[in-house]
Amino acid sequence: MTQEASRRNFLRSVGVAGGAGMLYSAMGALGLAPVPDARAEEYRPPRKSDFTLTGQSGKNGRKVLILGGGIAGLATAYELGKAGYDCRILEAKDRPGGRNWTVRGGTTLTDLDGRTQTASFSKGQYMNAGPARLPQSHVTLEYCRELGVPLEVFTNQNANAYIYHENSAALAGKPVRWRTAKADAYGYVSELLAKATDQGALDKDLTAADKERLIAFLQNFGAIKGKADGFAYTGSDRRGYSVEPGAAFEEGTVLGPVPSLSDVIGSGVGQRFSFEFGYDQAMLMFQPIGGMDAIPYALAKAIGEDRIIYGAKAMEVKDLPDGAEVVYKDATGRTRSSRADFVVAAVPPMVMTRIKHNLGADITAALKYPVATPVGKVGLEYRSRWWETDEHIYGGITPTDTDLATIWYPSYGYQGRRGTLIGYYNFGANAVAYSDLPHAERVQRAVSRGVKIHGEKYRTELDRSFSVAWHRTPHIEAGWVGWPSQTGPEYKLLNKSAGHVYFAGDWLSHVIAWQHGAFTSARKVVTDIHERVMAA
Ligand code: PHE
Repeated sequence: MTQEASRRNFLRSVGVAGGAGMLYSAMGALGLAPVPDARAEEYRPPRKSDFTLTGQSGKNGRKVLILGGGIAGLATAYELGKAGYDCRILEAKDRPGGRNWTVRGGTTLTDLDGRTQTASFSKGQYMNAGPARLPQSHVTLEYCRELGVPLEVFTNQNANAYIYHENSAALAGKPVRWRTAKADAYGYVSELLAKATDQGALDKDLTAADKERLIAFLQNFGAIKGKADGFAYTGSDRRGYSVEPGAAFEEGTVLGPVPSLSDVIGSGVGQRFSFEFGYDQAMLMFQPIGGMDAIPYALAKAIGEDRIIYGAKAMEVKDLPDGAEVVYKDATGRTRSSRADFVVAAVPPMVMTRIKHNLGADITAALKYPVATPVGKVGLEYRSRWWETDEHIYGGITPTDTDLATIWYPSYGYQGRRGTLIGYYNFGANAVAYSDLPHAERVQRAVSRGVKIHGEKYRTELDRSFSVAWHRTPHIEAGWVGWPSQTGPEYKLLNKSAGHVYFAGDWLSHVIAWQHGAFTSARKVVTDIHERVMAA
């Protein structure tokens, strides 16, 4: 093959799905496999052989400087490294991962307000301060497989966790178990729909046979009575028990009394159910065993620790006719500069706006366009696992209408001596309300809310705590961003190279606030760079 012809072949192979992906779709077309997931990745990593097979061996040492050692930056170096690119990551912090951060005993944080916390969590206790749950569809799981990061189930939905709505008088502001809320809401909705169907209200939409089948479905779905009893919902053991069934003559006592239809609707509990229908939030979900940061540490190891320069704060990015240059301050405060063929800025847009550059006013304006979302989390380590021993809650989440938003029970360490809850995980104004306070007052505020759900032990059993306000965290400055528009010129501009400079991160994806977004954005930039190098 001539060099030109083989290069063309290569470019064609990059453009289409390779390997298993292609085989799978072909099988799908032949009816031999189920239709692949809509999000199935068609990604082909760069390979060393791309260069040797096309007689371009000299090119595989191309130098790439990456700003930011979060998931996007790490993934960029990892993927380009597969083909032998010479990557270096400049990371301002002293660890990899960015927002993927697991807090353990000894972890410290000094925020933008100059407040320092040092976590004193016991051995084995941790909180995932950033990402904490992985859906099955996300490419993050593929990286875990490839990197050997072991997974366990993360419980995002638990029938025994509560829904707590104190602003609705209907259920007297009392916490309701998810199972109870579902039994009642499904029960009453089934009763109403069965009655309406039976009374002929839906005759325009349903045949006689449809009506019969619909009613059969509703009787099953809502555990309602038959026609003779007016399809009434009167409660069922799906609500749970106040006395558990047991040996001999103990039949158990079903939890009662059943609230009225009006109270169930008025309480708003039903509006929580759709959370678990969400594409990204549906069970099963997963977490790395021992902490989410197993992912960045595995990536850093695979890349080579010597390729990551910690404590390196980028000051300036210059696009040059034949490459790019980065000026940065190293960990000792010395100003250094480094040249490369390409620069990938894998930092949040808010951080990038303060790095000097010669990429033009449009880039500066576009970087200011996405809006930072404040996000906060607190980890509360308890001396006992009272949620398990006293309340039979093993993992899962209690959503509330208070400013703490949600309480998360740990999906690890079951039946152990101690355990660490997430005492708030909130966004926007609620996150700001907490971050305005010093740490001790954040905890006080969160605990005062939690006591209303779980009682005094929520205060008395508490031992240690740690809080993070992502919008007040150096080099990060938000939980994630929101774009006023992702179809406008700003988003398009930042998804293209600016000379020899590229941008990457979850903020440049349609899966913002998930590691999947960061990984896929990195893959896109890696493919763009590799195609450019191969075509040059
Ligand atoms: N991925 C984050 C989470 O699961 C943020 C997020 C929340 C993203 C809700 C989308 C929807 O908490």
